[in-house]
Order: sequence, then C-alpha cells, then structure tokens
Amino acid sequence: MITRRIALLGSTGSIGTQTLAVIEDLHRAGHRFSVIALAAGKNLELLAAQVQRFQPKLVVIEQTRDLNRLGRLLRPYWSGELLAGGEGLHAAVTHPDVDLVVNALVGAAGLIPTLEALRANKIVALANKESLVIGGHLIKSSRVSIIPIDSEHSALFQLVRSLRPSEIERVILTASGGPFRTRPLDSFAQITIDEALQHPTWRMGKRITIDSATLVNKAFEVIEAHWLFDLPYEKISVLIHPQSAIHGLVELTDGSLLAHLSTTDMKLPIQYALTYPERVPSSVERLDLVKQRLEFAPVGRERYPAFWTVLEAGRRGGTYPAVANAADEVLVQRFLNNEIAFTQIAQGLETILAEHQPVQNPSLEEIWEADRWARERAGKLSPNRVR
Ligand SMILES: NC(=O)c1ccc[n+]([C@@H]2O[C@H](COP(=O)([O-])OP(=O)(O)OC[C@H]3O[C@@H](n4cnc5c(N)ncnc54)[C@H](OP(=O)(O)O)[C@@H]3O)[C@@H](O)[C@H]2O)c1
Repeated sequence: MITRRIALLGSTGSIGTQTLAVIEDLHRAGHRFSVIALAAGKNLELLAAQVQRFQPKLVVIEQTRDLNRLGRLLRPYWSGELLAGGEGLHAAVTHPDVDLVVNALVGAAGLIPTLEALRANKIVALANKESLVIGGHLIKSSRVSIIPIDSEHSALFQLVRSLRPSEIERVILTASGGPFRTRPLDSFAQITIDEALQHPTWRMGKRITIDSATLVNKAFEVIEAHWLFDLPYEKISVLIHPQSAIHGLVELTDGSLLAHLSTTDMKLPIQYALTYPERVPSSVERLDLVKQRLEFAPVGRERYPAFWTVLEAGRRGGTYPAVANAADEVLVQRFLNNEIAFTQIAQGLETILAEHQPVQNPSLEEIWEADRWARERAGKLSPNRVR
C-alpha cells in the first residue's frame, strides 16, 4: 500500500482534475492518498466541489477578493484554513503534513511555489514546465527531488533511470505536429481559434493546446529536458511523430535506441509521478501494437518558426527563456481574444526576443523584470506591427 500526503496546485485545470481522478483510482485500489491542500485560480464552483469531496486542511484561491464568496460556498461542509495568493501557495507547499507537491499551475506563477516546495524538502511532481523554462538554473541543484509529469519527460525519466550518463548519445522528444502538420503554408494566416484548439492527439488546457500548434510547447520541453536531465542542447532532439505513441527515445552510444510507448492519456504519467518509485496497475487503455503505425519527420522551419525561435532563446539562456514564455503567454491570449492572427504569435516572439537586452544567470527579481518587460511589449505590439 502506498501512502502520500499531497498539496495540489492548479486543481481545477486539465492536469489538476486528472490528478484528482487518479487519486480516486488509487484509493479504490487500496492506496492511501490524502489531499492536504488544494489551490486554484478563478473557478470557485469547481474548487468548492473538490473541497467537499476531498476535505483538505488548506484551500488556496488566487485572488483575495474571492475569499468571501468561496468561504460562503464552503461553509455548509468544510471548516479548514482558507488563504489567497502567494501567501496561500507558500502555506500549501510548505505545509508540515505535505510530502508531495503536485504543481499543475499554468505559467510563470508556478516558479516560486516550485522553489519554495524544494526548499522545504518536499518531492515535487512537476507539470508546470514554466518553472524549469524560466528558472531552470535556480532549480537545477534540487532536480533529484522533481518527478516530471509532462509525458515526454516522464518517458525519458523512466528510460534514463537505468542508464549511466556515459551511455547516452542523445535523447529524442516527440511532437504530434499539432493540427496544422499538413495544412498548406499559404493558408496559415487564416487559421481560426477553433481550428488551433483542435489538438489531434491530446486534450489539454488552452495555452498548451495553442503552444502545441505552434510547437512553442516543444521548444519549452527541450529547455525543460536540458535542466531536468542535465543534458547539453546538442544532445536533445525533437521529431514529429503524428501518432504520439512514442513519447520519448534515448539513443545510446552504440547506436541502439530505447523508446517509451503508451496511449495518449495523461493519467499514466500523473499516476507514475504520484506512486514513484512504485509502479502500480492502471485502468488506462493499452496500446494496440498490431494497429499502431509509427511515423517520424523533422521539425520544418517554415511550418514551425516559433519552435526554432524559442529553442534559440533556450540555448542563449539567461533571461531569454523568461521573455519567450511571457511574450508567448500574452500573444497566445491575444490570438484567443481574436486580436492577432495565428502567424503573428511566431512573428511577435521573434521581434520581442530580438529586442531583448538579456541578463545572464538572472536572479528572481531579474526574471520578473524580464517577464514584465516582455508582457508589456507583447501587449502593445499592434496587429499590423507584430512583424
Ligand atoms: N494539460 C496537459 O495535458 C499537460 C500536459 C503536459 C504538461 N502540462 C503543463 O501543466 C501545466 C498545467 O496545464 P493545464 O493544461 O492543466 O492548464 P489549465 O487547464 O489552464 O489549468 C491551470 C490551473 O492553474 C490554476 N491557476 C492558474 N493561475 C493560478 C494562480 N495564480 N494561483 C492559483 N491557481 C492558478 C487554474 O485555476 P482556474 O482554472 O481555477 O482559474 C487551473 O487550476 C502547464 O504548465 C502545462 O504546460 C499540461
């Protein structure tokens, strides 16, 4: 029987709700997972329903102004501690009863909770890739306490466990290629929001879905892998693999390859992160190898310009990745608000990164300053001046 006491940040999101579903599955299988703290953003109704079901000791909401309304919703069935904002997230990740922090926040807001959880000697099951993208150099020394939830990194984490670093020639992350893998390039400027939100193989939150269409998400994942596995960028490759059956590969120095395959269900890497180092049965659908096709292609520069721009930002390091993340967050939101075209996400990123004056080995303050500058810049680029 496995016992864990969990703080779940981002409980109302795609990863957050699936984490709670996995916890229920594990309960039914006889394991003891107690939810000590739940934290969410704006979805008070769903958070209240989760609190009723899981009875955590601490509940955190993003905005102080929502405390009263949430308090009223919870009063009939719950009487724990209710906090807001950064103070609340700090209390959740350092709570003395918590041994595992699941960070499923989206965006730069995830960095400080990751750092604080690691500082408090908690194990961190990390979905929030932005923590490593913008603050990898601050996290690097405690990476042994991180269990990745991102499916590609979970795959690599499982593959490299049994290997010595000297055996690894390179790792390969796979990308589905998103919904526009075969769309004629001359029609990219007409891509609609609905089309961009139709991911072919995964169901995810809105930002990561758009980031998967531009492949910015994959560039972030390369940066994430660089810090998680302490690998130079030359040893991390990406291949388009439309079926998303293989999530990660390791090429060994003798030329042989190890691959990790499964169906596309985030419950699998979430469950592995929750039960690690144990592996327990799951209800996830099995891969039918007889029907499975496996195709691969390189990442095209014309089709996925944002991937190459953000990858370069990762290679340059310093504050460049923080700028890429913040600018992308704003540009994606502006695309979702119908303010800019899909192609202007990549153009905007290129413009903003070219203008940026970087700081190497930045402190937290310098990261936030770069983040603030990039957001402001991305917010002000007028639709016809994005290029
Ligand atoms: N979804 C996937 O399949 C997937 C796969 C791999 C990696 N990831 C990574 O996992 C992370 C989460 O992705 P997602 O798709 O689950 O995102 P999502 O569906 O947008 O969920 C984000 C969660 O964070 C909460 N939140 C946002 N800002 C907050 C703040 N300041 N304080 C407290 N809560 C806050 C949201 O609350 P409200 O909804 O209540 O506002 C929501 O619960 C991202 O870094 C993503 O790249 C996701």
